Amino acid sequence: MLTGKLDDLRARFHAALAAAEDAETLETVRVTFLGRSGEITSLRRSIGRLPPSDRPAAGKVINEAVEELERALEEARTRMEARAFDAQLSARIDVTFPAVETPRGSIHPVRRVIADACRYFQRHGFAVVLGPEIEPEYYNFDALNIPPDHPAREGFDSFFLTDTLLLRPHTSPMQIRTMQQHRPPVAVVVPGTCYRRDAVDARHLFQFHQIEGLLVGENVTMGHLKGMLTGMCREVFGPDQQVRFRPSFFPFTEPSAEVDTTCPLCGGERNQADAKRCRMCGGSGWIELGGSGMVHPNVLRTMEYDPGVYSGWAFGFGVERMALVRYDVDDIRRFYENDPGFLYQLA
Ligand code: PHE
Repeated sequence: MLTGKLDDLRARFHAALAAAEDAETLETVRVTFLGRSGEITSLRRSIGRLPPSDRPAAGKVINEAVEELERALEEARTRMEARAFDAQLSARIDVTFPAVETPRGSIHPVRRVIADACRYFQRHGFAVVLGPEIEPEYYNFDALNIPPDHPAREGFDSFFLTDTLLLRPHTSPMQIRTMQQHRPPVAVVVPGTCYRRDAVDARHLFQFHQIEGLLVGENVTMGHLKGMLTGMCREVFGPDQQVRFRPSFFPFTEPSAEVDTTCPLCGGERNQADAKRCRMCGGSGWIELGGSGMVHPNVLRTMEYDPGVYSGWAFGFGVERMALVRYDVDDIRRFYENDPGFLYQLA
C-alpha cells in the first residue's frame, strides 16, 4: 500500500517538476512534497499506524524515495540556472547605448604654460628649480640691489609675515639663491607662486604665478636673451611670434627692459592696416609679458661673481598673463573658478 502511494507521489512530483519553469515554482514543488508539512512528512507519520515489524522497511522505502526526489530537484535546479545563463549570453547587446564614461581630468591651463615654457628652456640646458614662497628681506630686496630706503621696495612690499619675512612678490629671490649655491655658469628657470597686494580684477590677482629665468656665464649678452625669449614665445604661443624690448627700470638689472610679444590673436603687424581694433592687444599688435634685463653688476658682486669676467641676464614673466593670451581668455579670474566647463574647453 505504501509503495503504491509512493509511486503515485513520485509520478505527480516528476510531472510538477517537468512543468516548473522558474525557481519560484521549483520551490513550491519542494515545499509541497518535501517540506516540513509536505506529503512525505504525512507518509512518515502514517508509519506509526503500521505493525511494528513493518515499520523499519517502510522507513527505508520512504528515505530512498526522499533521496531520489531531492536529487531530481537539485538536477532541475541546475538545469534551470544553466538555461538562465544561456539566455543572458545570447541576449542582444545594444551597441548604441551610451557608455559609462569616467570623467578624465586635464592639465590646468596655467600649468600647461609653465610646462611648455620649462620644456623649452630644459631643451637648451637650463635646470628647472623651485624656491620658497616665504622669503627674508635679504633675498627679496637687499641682495637684489634694493636697499632699505629704496622706493622700489614699495611695489614689492605686499604681505609681511614678520618684520623681515614676507610672501614673495616675485620669483627673483631665486636668482640670489641660485648664485649663492653655484659658481658660474648658471642657467635656471623658476616657475612659482607669487603674492602681491593687488585689488582683484580681470587682469590682477593677489596670488599668481611667475616664471623666472637666469643665465650667467662668460660673454652672455642681451642678444642671447632675445633669442631665448623669442624661442620660448614660439613654443608657448605659436611659430610666428616676435619679441621686442622696451626700456624700463629694475634695480637688479641694467639695462632693463619690458618684454612684449606679437599679439597671437591678430598676428601683430599684419592686422595693423585694419581699422578694426583687436580685443586682445587693442590694436597695438603687442602683448606685454614681463620684465627683463642684464644682471646688475652690484648683484654679481654681492654673489662674488666677478662682473669683469661674468655677465648674465634675467627675466620674470607673469604666467597667468601668458595663459590669458594663449587661450584668448578675457578674465584672469576664470582660471581659478574651478569651473570644469571652462577648463575642459581649454584642455
Ligand atoms: N621680478 C620682476 C617683477 O616681478 C621682473 C624681472 C625679473 C625683471 C628679472 C628683471 C629681471 O616685476
